[in-house]
Amino acid sequence: MIGIPVSYFQRKNRIYLLLACASVCLALAILQSEFLWLKPPLDEIGRTLYKSAFFVVLPFRVLVAFVLPRIDHHWSLLHHLISTLGAPFFYYAVFRVAKRLVGYFRAKKLRVERPLDSLFDRRQFLARSAAGSFGIAVGGVAGYSAIVEPGELAIRNYEIPIRDLPDRFDGFRIVQISDTHYGPYTSASFIRKVLDRANELSPDLFVLTGDYVHFTPRAIPLGTELFKMLKCNLGAVAVLGNHDHWEGANACKEGLHKAGVQTIDNSRVFLSAAGLSDAPLDRDSLCIAGLGDLWEDRVSFDEALRDVPRSTPCIVLSHNPDAAELVRKNDRVDLMLSGHTHGGQIRLPRIGAPIAPSQFGKKYLGGMCHGPNCPVVVSRGIGLAGIPLRFQVPPELVQISLRQV
Ligand SMILES: [Fe+2]
Repeated sequence: MIGIPVSYFQRKNRIYLLLACASVCLALAILQSEFLWLKPPLDEIGRTLYKSAFFVVLPFRVLVAFVLPRIDHHWSLLHHLISTLGAPFFYYAVFRVAKRLVGYFRAKKLRVERPLDSLFDRRQFLARSAAGSFGIAVGGVAGYSAIVEPGELAIRNYEIPIRDLPDRFDGFRIVQISDTHYGPYTSASFIRKVLDRANELSPDLFVLTGDYVHFTPRAIPLGTELFKMLKCNLGAVAVLGNHDHWEGANACKEGLHKAGVQTIDNSRVFLSAAGLSDAPLDRDSLCIAGLGDLWEDRVSFDEALRDVPRSTPCIVLSHNPDAAELVRKNDRVDLMLSGHTHGGQIRLPRIGAPIAPSQFGKKYLGGMCHGPNCPVVVSRGIGLAGIPLRFQVPPELVQISLRQV
């Protein structure tokens, strides 16, 4: 300690105190979302605070996720806490390392003889301009991905030929809505706009393929009630996603039931001219079956396809498209409809999607995919999960038209 002035330690303490305050502010900004974003008209302020704090924390959170294995959902809360409270200290450490590196290279440069000062100045000017332009471009793309693209909506149309399709179902239209993720990232007003647009498509049937809520069980009542808006003759059927299980499967099922949506996890319904039926119908019918979520529930084809006559075409709903790999050769699955992967949410030029929450890489990222024993249409979803950004992967509604072969 001899030779080091006392003010040095006072300065150090002040810095650590400031970093601790910044950590607490970040944690509060994230925690407040539980209380603010559910209460209009403060919900947008709460949502913005949450997202801003999340972006600050994100680089350190990615590092934490690599170091700490994610064993189950509860571990992500631990990641959240460590990355929120540790982020300011992480940035301070990065700043100190960067400062030392700059000092080292500057000292090295000073030792090199500079023949032309004017040339050095020009180079410095060009380097600074390039860095500035790069910063503005990154900021622009980030702003677009956080604010503009998540509010867009694409309608994807698919015409699917189905074997043995009864005459009455030729041209039958299904609109699939997936991954609405109501919560601190996706607002109820945006989901309402999407559902209005879905109603305008006036399909014969709505199917919902999971992840209706995000981040907290407090999102369940409104996140499921929103589907009351859906209007069509045959109504809506649904399966749950992993996020619904994380926040409360029973409460989600109850909320959907109140909204007039029938849940069919590991079960099925039959469609006929008379409407939806739980009892098997032999002739002129179409089966819509549902699987439990692959991560958080059982996946039982035996229960989902129970008593389905071999002559009845069957469309299977599965939140997670990886379940397509489990379809056996003698299961009658004419088409699978899935969500979950969100198209990766971010698609970079040349690289594609850097994130794909699937065991099979980019195979089931979005659009028309092919499982070993059935075609799979994967919706890129409506809302946001993980990172609150969408780039080159806008929210989408999927419209399926069935055709006789
Ligand atoms: Fe999702």
